[in-house]
Amino acid sequence: MEIIFATGNAHKAMEAQSILGETFTVIMPKELGITDDIPENCDTLLGNAVEKCTYLWKICKRACFADDTGLEVDALGGAPGVHTARYAGEGKESDANMNKLLAELQKLGPEYGNPAMRRARFRTVIAYKDKKGELHTFEGVLEGHIACRKSGNLGFGYDPVFVPDETGGKTTLAEVPAEVKNAISHRGKAIRALKNFLENDR
Ligand code: IMP
Repeated sequence: MEIIFATGNAHKAMEAQSILGETFTVIMPKELGITDDIPENCDTLLGNAVEKCTYLWKICKRACFADDTGLEVDALGGAPGVHTARYAGEGKESDANMNKLLAELQKLGPEYGNPAMRRARFRTVIAYKDKKGELHTFEGVLEGHIACRKSGNLGFGYDPVFVPDETGGKTTLAEVPAEVKNAISHRGKAIRALKNFLENDR
């Protein structure tokens, strides 16, 4: 079954392909000649995922999905949340985003140096529309906390400051190999939920 993924990021498309397996063929919009800048103007992850998926479905009327991910930090009232990519500005610069996050937590006071006060999670929401345009949504969550400083150089985005519970709560995502991250990640869980649905829906 062919399924179109509303992303311009080849790395994400390859990751989705490897999780969905050979029964599915993941196609990027640009492979179909769709080069539009797919809009994401909503103030929730779900809203953005649905907006992107609906936009693409209207163009191609084929099975497609879109994702949106946010980092939610409890001590910051769930921020950066839907603003995760642009937390420190439109440049979407990972180092600047992490520096801002660490500074915001430091401002809260010394007790916020304790991991228990730095609880956070990555959340990925996927919106899928089948060829008839019926909408289904899926979610994947990775629980953990924000480290006091960056460590590790693997991965991307906020990986150097995010310590997942599932690997023992000591190492950041930037210190674990990609296979380990993919097995536990928010995006991996959301894509596996989509896969499970597709396999049972056929
Ligand atoms: P997107 O919705 O996949 O574009 O993700 C939004 C932002 O969340 C990205 O720009 C990254 O900063 C951050 N992010 C998403 N997934 C991860 C991850 O697995 N590790 C670290 N940061 C991530």
